[in-house]
Amino acid sequence: MTLVIAHRGNSSVAPENTLAAFEAAWRAGAGSIELDVQLTADGEVVVIHDDTLDATTDGVGGLASADLPTVRSLDAGAWFSPAFAGQRVPTFAEVVDLLTRRPGIDLLLEVKGAWTVEQVRRVTEPVLAAGLADRVVAQSFWPETVAALRVAAPDLRRGLLVLEADAGLEDRCRDLGVMTCNPHGLLLVQDPGLVDRLHAAGLQVMVWTLDEPEHWAAAVALGVDGIITNRPDRLAGWLAAR
Ligand code: G3P
Ligand code: CA
Repeated sequence: MTLVIAHRGNSSVAPENTLAAFEAAWRAGAGSIELDVQLTADGEVVVIHDDTLDATTDGVGGLASADLPTVRSLDAGAWFSPAFAGQRVPTFAEVVDLLTRRPGIDLLLEVKGAWTVEQVRRVTEPVLAAGLADRVVAQSFWPETVAALRVAAPDLRRGLLVLEADAGLEDRCRDLGVMTCNPHGLLLVQDPGLVDRLHAAGLQVMVWTLDEPEHWAAAVALGVDGIITNRPDRLAGWLAAR
């Protein structure tokens, strides 16, 4: 069965990386929510993709120079539609609360940037304390962050995001101790044997970000374990109709 993973929530019907988008992903029947976490200037974990505030809030400037009260004062929904005015940049604590209230959906947690062990504990500890370990995969493009996750929470599933798939990829995954290796969709076009290679190395594969049925069909034919999509409602329906 292919896991439907809602990219930044159901970001085709609600503003990305907001509680509204996560609730929409749950209503769409997604199996998992993908979201992005970053640190504010005062070291709090918030859910936002860009390292600037400009694209998805009514604020401006870098996230790293804004403290939590500033970030929380911003509107994160009106840019998408006036119907979503009042949505806030979620805290990670709100995500944990949502998962607790919505037991049917898992979390693919992308940690953006190079985080230390102490910093990754700001996500691993709430996950473990809430008893959510078996519903969370933490992933990153940054190998040092993946390594920090391994130290902070050895039993929490981890993933490496990749934009390139060279011959050493399986070795890097093994050395990092990841359970999933999650490639950009183009890598499956460039190397149709990649999914088999990763599976042979004992890794799960969740591909990103595919929104069209012909791309879903190609990924399913290659045997991916999950598809990260901005259209989880359509993907869920497409999979059910096969
Ligand atoms: O989860 C994979 C995907 O989200 C990575 O790309 O830029 O959308 O975070 P990006
Ligand atoms: Ca992401």
